Amino acid sequence: MSEPRVLVVGHGLIGRQRAQAVLEHGATLAGTVDPVAPGRPDAPHFAAVADVPAGDYDAAIVALPHDVAVAAAHTILRGGRPVLIEKPLGLRAQQAQRLVAAAATLGAPSFVGYNYRFLPGIRAILDAAAQGRLGTLRTIDLLIGHGGHPGSADGWKLQPDRAGGGVVLDPGVHLLDLLLLLEPRLALEHAAATRGFWKTGIEEDVVLTFAHERLIATVRVSHVRWVNTLRVEVVGEDGYGIAEGRGGNYGDQTLRLGRRWAWAQPGAPGQRDTEERRDFGPGNASLTDEVGAVLARWRGAPPAPGPAPATFRQALAVTALVDAVYDRIGRA
Ligand SMILES: NC(=O)c1ccc[n+]([C@@H]2O[C@H](COP(=O)([O-])OP(=O)(O)OC[C@H]3O[C@@H](n4cnc5c(N)ncnc54)[C@H](O)[C@@H]3O)[C@@H](O)[C@H]2O)c1
Repeated sequence: MSEPRVLVVGHGLIGRQRAQAVLEHGATLAGTVDPVAPGRPDAPHFAAVADVPAGDYDAAIVALPHDVAVAAAHTILRGGRPVLIEKPLGLRAQQAQRLVAAAATLGAPSFVGYNYRFLPGIRAILDAAAQGRLGTLRTIDLLIGHGGHPGSADGWKLQPDRAGGGVVLDPGVHLLDLLLLLEPRLALEHAAATRGFWKTGIEEDVVLTFAHERLIATVRVSHVRWVNTLRVEVVGEDGYGIAEGRGGNYGDQTLRLGRRWAWAQPGAPGQRDTEERRDFGPGNASLTDEVGAVLARWRGAPPAPGPAPATFRQALAVTALVDAVYDRIGRA
């Protein structure tokens, strides 16, 4: 497709940002769809996808509550249009597989919104690891914590029947995506979860451990950690990368890249002084940058170097890992 006309389905927190990003990247916003939230003055708005004339859009962004996202994405794919669907790709691998099969029949690729790949600190660590600059990976620790707000339990995101689960599915899948990018052969070794603060039955504090050969990894996701936190630490035998923050109330995005025993170089006062340090500030352009990368592919560009939007196959692997975690900790 030369210049895609993009429909944004679900005009809530994320749909609004995606719609804005479509316009910022010079594409046409074919319209927004939401039975509750209003649209925007510069694009048509519909209450349901079925109300959108079939010839009016070429691709869609699906930003819906998890319980309705799969059916909506499937309908759009079966109608012949690729999608960017917000994470996760299905609540179970079986659902994800159905979407993979529907997407595979189309000429244009479909993607899943795993925008943490596009955070600049994380992106630098992924690059360093992929280029072998960290050496054989030995230790990965990924942590997201947030505290929500007094009304969090009233929204769909903490209701197991609507969200499909708790912190493993949201936001844990972002970390599982990063983990599999770093080492797709990692196997789940242990999973522990606690529940009880939010009273909806969801798992709200989770520890996962993974291993492959000499690599050990942990994933920590918590909804009872009262200061919003994102931390990514990746250590190889030759060096390490540490990214913190996500902008906004997760704190400035920072990056430290260091080399093993760099302190031993003549004149180096200490390990920390030898590190390459970056402060990317309080912003977070990852959702917008991801839309730019998706639009480039829909416009026909080949996969570009640098962070790439998550393919359906990659996202299916994440959902399969989610299934494995719930097999251990139980679903609410
Ligand atoms: N990548 C990220 O950083 C990130 C952050 C938050 C949420 N998300 C994901 O984005 C998706 C949406 O989350 P959100 O925070 O925008 O939720 P939200 O509740 O703010 O928005 C969802 C919108 O969908 C609308 N909706 C419900 N059913 C609909 C239907 N059948 N057709 C059209 N619209 C319908 C609702 O009225 C609501 O406005 C979820 O998959 C979530 O996991 C991603």
